[in-house]
Amino acid sequence: MPTVKFVNEKKSIEVPEGANLRREALKNGVQLYSGIHKYVNCMGFGQCASCRVHVTKGEDKVSQPGILEKLRLLLGPLTFFQRIGNEKRLRLACQTRINGDCEVQTHPAIVPPVEETFWN
Ligand code: FES
Repeated sequence: MPTVKFVNEKKSIEVPEGANLRREALKNGVQLYSGIHKYVNCMGFGQCASCRVHVTKGEDKVSQPGILEKLRLLLGPLTFFQRIGNEKRLRLACQTRINGDCEVQTHPAIVPPVEETFWN
């Protein structure tokens, strides 16, 4: 069974292969949503982008983003900028299936830390 490590929460969970990342996180008490999105979100239909995470390790161990997920991340004003430099890492948890061990960072920063910017 694949292991998913949630970096911010310092929590590792074992999930069945092919499991949905959002569903497994919520089932194991990992809060993916912040602010109002705890109560108002699209419930896993890939429309609100409030479940976005960074897959920091094992990007090749999760399903590839589909066309709708890519479009959602490209067309949203926040996600458009958040995606720059994180094209492979930024994912919607509700659209991500786990196929192997990986590490996930919930609540990724919208603006990257200064040391990660282009000019440094
Ligand atoms: S829950 Fe809305 S996009 Fe994932």
